[in-house]
Amino acid sequence: MEAATSNAETKEGIPLKLGMSNADLSELGDSLVKKLHVMMRVSQIYDANNVMFRRFMHENLETMNAITEKERRISLTMLKGDIFLNDQRLRYSVEGFCSFKYVITQWKKKRIGGVTFKGVLDERMLQEFLYTIKSLPDRRDENAANFNERMAYHKIHSIEVVPLDPIEDEDGDSALRKDDQKVVAKKVFFETLGTIKEVITQIKTKQYPDVRKLKRLAQTAVRLVMQDESILLGLTTIKNYDEYTFNHSVNVSIYSIAIGRRLGLSKKALTELGITAMLHDVGKSKVPRTVLNKPDKLDDAEWDLMKKHPLMGVEIVLNLKQLGEVNPRTVIGIFDHHLKTDLSGYPRLFRKKEPSLFGRIIQIADVYDAMTTPRVYRKKSYSPDQVLAIMLKDRETTFDPILLKIFIGLVGIFPVGSLVLLDTKEIAITYKVNPDSELLDRPQVIVIRREEKGEVKESLVDLSEPGSAGAYKRSIVKALDPNRYHIDIVKYFI
Ligand SMILES: [Fe+2]
Ligand SMILES: [Fe+2]
Repeated sequence: MEAATSNAETKEGIPLKLGMSNADLSELGDSLVKKLHVMMRVSQIYDANNVMFRRFMHENLETMNAITEKERRISLTMLKGDIFLNDQRLRYSVEGFCSFKYVITQWKKKRIGGVTFKGVLDERMLQEFLYTIKSLPDRRDENAANFNERMAYHKIHSIEVVPLDPIEDEDGDSALRKDDQKVVAKKVFFETLGTIKEVITQIKTKQYPDVRKLKRLAQTAVRLVMQDESILLGLTTIKNYDEYTFNHSVNVSIYSIAIGRRLGLSKKALTELGITAMLHDVGKSKVPRTVLNKPDKLDDAEWDLMKKHPLMGVEIVLNLKQLGEVNPRTVIGIFDHHLKTDLSGYPRLFRKKEPSLFGRIIQIADVYDAMTTPRVYRKKSYSPDQVLAIMLKDRETTFDPILLKIFIGLVGIFPVGSLVLLDTKEIAITYKVNPDSELLDRPQVIVIRREEKGEVKESLVDLSEPGSAGAYKRSIVKALDPNRYHIDIVKYFI
């Protein structure tokens, strides 16, 4: 998110600006949904007189009233699985996902499509709102009308809800429309992130991890990649610095499934590949954090330990009984994902044998994702096209050249999420790879224009669009460093 300069702050330190910009509003919305989530949860457990609940409500009122004072009203509306604050779609943060999901699920259950707060609220109003919503029976179309009646009865005229639009209530994911695919993709992405985190925490605390969910998520990811690979690929631009291991595992599995699909692997094999990639670094749970996050160079002993993570991963996976019969391809894939094609890398082999197909696929996905992500010991990440150039240089010794070619076909010469300069002097973000392999340098891009007033305008443009005299209308000149332009790439993909 672009940094918002603030001239006032709420109690929680959330910047407030007179006449809020979209970025401010979005930030506040994210925080509001998180608070709403906690309040709804707390109201499920405690009664209205509970001290903790009251304190919490009091704090939230300040945030909410601060917005209504500036914007005159707050309306939170659900539309196609997203939440809009007034007219702005909220883009949730990685940590905010659970809150969004909770609010959306609860409202859907109660057949509520949104709520408007039309004036300054007091504790009694907020309390009535929360407990009335809670008391509504599930799946009754008349809920919204009943809620509004109840508010009128209590003489609360500043809170109003609208009924759920029946379109929002379609569950199940058969015949997904584009927008629905996006919603499912986001859900799968963040759920996988959470599940990997859970599995790793359980392994660390010597509990019995439940990995059946990973299998279900891998199946959905495979289905999504088969329908439209660009949606999940777009989400790999999320590089969460703090949650590197989990985020990295999800990204590697998306890339791997997409490579596997282009190779023509069966659905079953793709699911196995997806699970293998999700678990490829599971052995790192046995490496101390101090080593994993060491900002300096590792010493010999630390490096030796680090090099054991594939083997430790194999050990862990062999103990995961719920995977059923552990697939040998999974075991071998985890074992050799750092083994280069010239058999250097690790673990050292006594017998010369080339790395497995899963191992070779995961290695490409792994290196690409690791290098495009900033790390503790390398604050600056490489841009996607720089990474591809480095990988191409190593193609004979490190990677399977054919798989690397497939991978480049998948992400394009300027991979999805690259910031680029066009010959029209416009700045753009690559959004979707051109399906024609001859036109890899002509993806669809989002052109970002800054208007005079500083407002940002975005438009989706196809670079294969012809211009005059047989030339193209726009072409990429070069890749740019997003850090220098202060552009938050991720927000275009979630
Ligand atoms: Fe690894
Ligand atoms: Fe890795």
